[in-house]
Amino acid sequence: MLHLTWYLACGMLLHLIFIESAKGEFYSSIDSMQDLVKVEENLINATRLYLEAQQKQLYIYSRFIQQIKQEQKSARTLPNLDEYLEHPLHSFRFLKRFVYDWDTLILGPIVNNNPREEFQHSVNDLFENLGYPNSSEVQGAVKGLARLQKVYNLTASHLADGAIHGLLYESQLDWSDCYEIGVQLFDIGDYSKSEEWLEEALILLEENLEMDHSDLYVSDIREYLALVNFELGHSNRAKSLLNENSAQLTLKYLENSRSREILEEGDFPWFANYSRLCQGKRLPEKQDNILKCYLDGKRHAFFTLAPLKVEQVHLDPDITVYHGVLSSKQISSIFTESNKKERIRSGVAGENGEDRTVKDIRVSQQTWLNYSTPTMQYVNRINEYICGLTMRGAEEMQVANYGVGGQYEPHPDYFEFDLPPDFDGDRISTSMFYLSNVQQGGYTVFPNLNVFLPPVKGSMVLWHNLHYSLDVDARTWHAGCPVIVGSKKIGNIWMHSGSQTFRRPCHLISDRHKSLAYRN
Ligand SMILES: *[C@@H]1O[C@H](CO)[C@@H](O)[C@H](O)[C@H]1NC(C)=O
Ligand SMILES: *[C@@H]1O[C@H](CO)[C@@H](O)[C@H](O)[C@H]1NC(C)=O
Ligand SMILES: *[C@@H]1O[C@H](CO)[C@@H](O)[C@H](O)[C@H]1NC(C)=O
Ligand SMILES: *[C@@H]1O[C@H](CO)[C@@H](O)[C@H](O)[C@H]1NC(C)=O
Ligand SMILES: *[C@@H]1O[C@H](CO)[C@@H](O)[C@H](O)[C@H]1NC(C)=O
Repeated sequence: MLHLTWYLACGMLLHLIFIESAKGEFYSSIDSMQDLVKVEENLINATRLYLEAQQKQLYIYSRFIQQIKQEQKSARTLPNLDEYLEHPLHSFRFLKRFVYDWDTLILGPIVNNNPREEFQHSVNDLFENLGYPNSSEVQGAVKGLARLQKVYNLTASHLADGAIHGLLYESQLDWSDCYEIGVQLFDIGDYSKSEEWLEEALILLEENLEMDHSDLYVSDIREYLALVNFELGHSNRAKSLLNENSAQLTLKYLENSRSREILEEGDFPWFANYSRLCQGKRLPEKQDNILKCYLDGKRHAFFTLAPLKVEQVHLDPDITVYHGVLSSKQISSIFTESNKKERIRSGVAGENGEDRTVKDIRVSQQTWLNYSTPTMQYVNRINEYICGLTMRGAEEMQVANYGVGGQYEPHPDYFEFDLPPDFDGDRISTSMFYLSNVQQGGYTVFPNLNVFLPPVKGSMVLWHNLHYSLDVDARTWHAGCPVIVGSKKIGNIWMHSGSQTFRRPCHLISDRHKSLAYRN
């Protein structure tokens, strides 16, 4: 298949040039991709310098050749060449040409090619820290697109046209983008999405049939479509897509491989409700609670002059948004601190509570900030004043950034069993600070509580993960929906139950029954 040979060849070239492979991971955080944007600017400059140097060199070569031709021409006007060389000045020039000119002007520079070496050095320097992105990056971004399609119910042609919920992107995808996405989805076994993208590639390619080799590309895409259809169990359609020329190898593949198990989409029982809330649609369910917005100047003396702006979004369990808690200046200072630290891909706690593993259910990057800078001291204090709990035993603030299709599927914040050894009790409360606005998507949703919250920069959401009895409250399962457009940044602080005896006394009677029905 043409596609494979192309990309294999390109990949090998890049590996010849770049010794280092990817170190970081780019697709899971917009911040990381911004690092790559700066690198690309430098790469453009390095390439321009290289081209200019080469052009200068080429100019020197061709002028030299021209000069020699000129001399040879005048030599040939003499009756014979010997006569030309008999002239001492001529033979001097002739020999000098070999000893010096050819060597220093042409052969040396061509063999050494200094501009190329300089180019290679500067490219290596550019990628030394970041690493060069490899195919896993494209795969991550493609998975992100597939996730957007699934959660927001978008077709491939919606995305290819650049129309997302009525908002027109500047960039549209062409047939080869769609083809690449289809191939990547095929590789990760998402066959029905792969089919959709390959069909879209064919449609777009058919608008470009005057292009060179378009017939080759068409049969290439049809071949992939045949494989996809075979994997989906549509073997008749698969065979109809192949023509005699291209089909031999593929048919062999089709006959020899058994159909793999197909992943059912929307497998999880929570998926429909989650997806609906992510789209900003409430579940069809009566809302009995009367919710209020109010100013609160009494909670703590700190709020006497500047009362808290409180928005209730759910009662029992209470979920409350506090608006305007952090200023833009404070948020920039948080980013200044977090940018100094290495971002790592967010993990999820393993089943045994020990190992943290990287999984697609959580696509973001994070750092942890302690409370030593003035801004973080402020964050510490205001969180304590709002929650009415002590920060003793609280974790450092986790600052997370979500990239293309970045998300965190429904999960609880409590541990319940297998508390990490340094934990003083379980995570009694979550304070989620929104550190950016998100143009589209990225809502925080509580599928059990019929609640969705669009991120609002500077606001903070607070809820308790434990009942007063300290039993876990499964109603608080929540999720970060995939980001469609924008860069989502949040800061989470988890307070622990161990030190709250006097702040939030335990109830003697368990109220755990309230949430038993919601256990996932
Ligand atoms: C890409 O690089 C990352 C990080 O170095 C590595 O984990 C991953 O296996 C690489 N993927 C491929 C396809 O080489
Ligand atoms: C690239 O070169 C241009 C023009 O020389 C310069 O203005 C720009 O700052 C350079 N960019 C980087 C990232 O060095
Ligand atoms: C998804 O969108 C299609 C129309 O494009 C609609 O028919 C279908 O009902 C939607 N599915 C869900 C689950 O919203
Ligand atoms: C989804 O929401 C509906 C309406 O609120 C509810 O009746 C149903 O049980 C929910 N489904 C799941 C799997 O939680
Ligand atoms: C807080 O973080 C800073 C920067 O990473 C570090 O220098 C400092 O030692 C840390 N302080 C505490 C108390 O951990």
